[in-house]
Formats: sequence, C-alpha cells, structure tokens
Amino acid sequence: MGAVRVGILTVSDRASAGDYEDASGPLIRQVVADRLGGEVALVATVPDEQAVIRETLAEWADSGQVDLILTTGGTGFAPRDVTPEATRQVIEREAPGLAEAMRLASLKVTPFAMLSRAVAGTRGRTLIVNLPGSPKAVRENLEAILPALPHGLELLAGGGTDASHRYRPEEGSI
Ligand code: MTE
Repeated sequence: MGAVRVGILTVSDRASAGDYEDASGPLIRQVVADRLGGEVALVATVPDEQAVIRETLAEWADSGQVDLILTTGGTGFAPRDVTPEATRQVIEREAPGLAEAMRLASLKVTPFAMLSRAVAGTRGRTLIVNLPGSPKAVRENLEAILPALPHGLELLAGGGTDASHRYRPEEGSI
C-alpha cells in the first residue's frame, strides 16, 4: 500500500458560511502528513446538514480516491450536531474500538469527552472517523488512534502485513 490517501471533511455551519476560518481541517492535514505520512486527496467544508454530510461521505468513499476520511465537528449535543447520524447512514461496518479509544484517552484530559458522540466505521475500502470540532480536541483524539491506523488501513485494503512502522511517534514519546 502506498501513502495513505486522506479526505478531510470539516462540518460547521459557521465555517461553511465563511463566518470564521476553519483551524481544525488544516491541523488534521498537518498531523496526517507529519505522523502518518499521508497525502490529502480531498477536502471540503460543509454545513451541519445531515443529507449533505451523508452524500459527501458516500461520494468520497465510493470514488476510490481516499483510504481514510476524517471529519471534524458536529459530534456533540447541540441540536445541529448530526455528523454521527450522517456517518451511521453510510458506514457498512462500525469500528467502535476507534471511538472508544478516542473517548477513553480524551476523558483523561476533560470530562467533556463523554459528550462526543463520534462514530467510526468502514464503507468499502474506506475508513471513516469522526473527530470533534475544536483544534485541541482534534489533536487529542487523533493522537489516540494514530498508533492503530496504519495497520487497520492495511487490513482494510486487503493486505495482511504489519504496517505499524508507518506510524511515527512524536519526538520524545515512548
Ligand atoms: N476530546 C478531547 N480530547 N479534548 C476536548 O477538548 N472537547 C469535547 C469533546 N471531546 C474535547 C473532546 C467537547 S467540549 C464536546 S462538546 C465534544 O467533544 C463534541 O465536540 P463537537 O461538537 O465540536 O464535535
């Protein structure tokens, strides 16, 4: 398997309206490049509309252009937060361990972690993972799943080799 091809979907009414600049999408791009050796193939910002999120996720996964889709935003309890519902509509197999690992790690940082309703799962050969909206939460949640992502993606692509060498621990970490 070559470099991991990634799609980044920012879900935010305000960012899609141009009311504020999205910081989480660019942060994901940086982490994907630095820590996963991945290439960002698709990027979009959409409002918190379930149908729009669902259609974008399905289109991206079915295009064959991405191995991994990372969404940011819309996972909480606000009435407009529907990213998990849209994701559930498109995934074929849920990957609850990824969401569990993110919440477990995040609970060590903030009790608000239990307010994330993030979902992860696969559609065809694409893994979709919801991340919360704030840059801080993006970094902390992504950090939690990075060690397992290369191997999971390798398996999803149909290979069986251990790809954990692709994960690059941060300088100084064990
Ligand atoms: N997880 C981590 N690691 N760090 C955080 O700061 N913020 C939480 C949570 N998960 C947070 C976190 C908060 S405040 C909320 S409301 C939920 O994620 C959902 O965020 P979202 O609605 O922006 O997707």
